[in-house]
Amino acid sequence: MADEKPFHLQGNFAPTSEELSVDELEVEGAIPPELCGLYLRNGANPVTGESPHWFLGQGMVHGVKLERGRAVWYRNRYVRTPFFENPSMQRISPTGEMDRVASAANTSVVGHAGRILALEEGSYPWLLDAELETRGYDDFDGRLRTAFTAHPHFCPLTGEMIGFGYGQTPPYLTYHRVSPDGKLVQSEVIEVPGPTMIHDFMISENYALFMDLPVVFNIEAAMRGVMPFQWSDDYGARIGLMPRTGTNADVRWFEIEPCYVFHTMNAWEEGEQVVFDVCRISELWREAGDMSGGNGEQTLHRFRFDLGTGRVREETLDERSMDFPRVADARVGQPNRYGYALQFNLGEEGGGSFGAHLKFDFQSGKSETHDYGAGMNPGEPAFVAAPGADPDSDEGWVMSYVHDDGSGKSELVILDASRFAAKPVARIKLPCRVPYGFHGSFIKDAA
Ligand SMILES: [Fe+2]
Repeated sequence: MADEKPFHLQGNFAPTSEELSVDELEVEGAIPPELCGLYLRNGANPVTGESPHWFLGQGMVHGVKLERGRAVWYRNRYVRTPFFENPSMQRISPTGEMDRVASAANTSVVGHAGRILALEEGSYPWLLDAELETRGYDDFDGRLRTAFTAHPHFCPLTGEMIGFGYGQTPPYLTYHRVSPDGKLVQSEVIEVPGPTMIHDFMISENYALFMDLPVVFNIEAAMRGVMPFQWSDDYGARIGLMPRTGTNADVRWFEIEPCYVFHTMNAWEEGEQVVFDVCRISELWREAGDMSGGNGEQTLHRFRFDLGTGRVREETLDERSMDFPRVADARVGQPNRYGYALQFNLGEEGGGSFGAHLKFDFQSGKSETHDYGAGMNPGEPAFVAAPGADPDSDEGWVMSYVHDDGSGKSELVILDASRFAAKPVARIKLPCRVPYGFHGSFIKDAA
């Protein structure tokens, strides 16, 4: 019975079975001609049609190529890793070591140093070409000795890609810094008490911020093939700040209230203080293999670390349920006036949709909502700045795949970020549905 399946195999969470290539897409409205490049989004799309958790299916990237006002093509392609070729393979050894080559490659897709990387946090990056064909894994000429996060961050001042890897066996956490030309130039083991799930991190202009939070690896669950992480009441919770060219010895750890954070919005410095905005949930996965989203809501939360006094202050900025926070690429690590997120659980106001986009103006303290209408469900909002725009402005566009429950198909929708609640500037009609997935990027054509 269809309704007995877990949520991630039902409706538009269910995987799609075809890889398509369709040229010259129909557009309602007008695609801004300045938007030239690839909008790409990754997600889990189990090859067999079955997977024990939403996070565990094989990666499929859905892309739309934009060129001077045209939607040139839509394509969707699996990332062809060994785990794609052999879906029944065991990716984790009995001692808890992940196979770093056999990636699910399902979590995010990013562009750096002229390359496109499909990322999943237990493995090495996988390279795609501009046609979405898989080109092999990338261990940075053998220098990468750990997994690599699906959430590296890109410094707008230096052009570096800064990330980390975490593991279930020591070293549990390793910092990685990649130069603007794509070379892994620094790896530092960061000491933490145990193997926790570290999904994201953040940078400010001078610091890397690590989250060591109480969702801890469980080998027995791993062997059963379920999500191998579980809440711990004993582990504690701390955030570490390390100078970006520093070492483990330089990390300042701040104890915080136990919680979990999947995704960070941004961090920046104000004198001796470092401010860190995240989407926070108070507890996650008390039982191993828990399929739920956790206890309570993910809300927008601010940490303020004082490097002078060693104190940390916490406050909730917005109590609505949300995730997938983003800021303009040019504001990563810098104070941001604007931020964007995906709101969940709209209830009555959502008109039957489960998601809407939020835009925060942290200067005025106001926010705006873009509700796509009844049965229209967006994903992560990707902000793309207009060429030549003030980097702290909202001049640019917000892009996302939106699923139309009515037609059963999806669209790539482009909003004018400065007129956020207004109707979209373009709705690019796709020939199929794009299952709900994870993270995307707009990768601009080289100038
Ligand atoms: Fe993520």
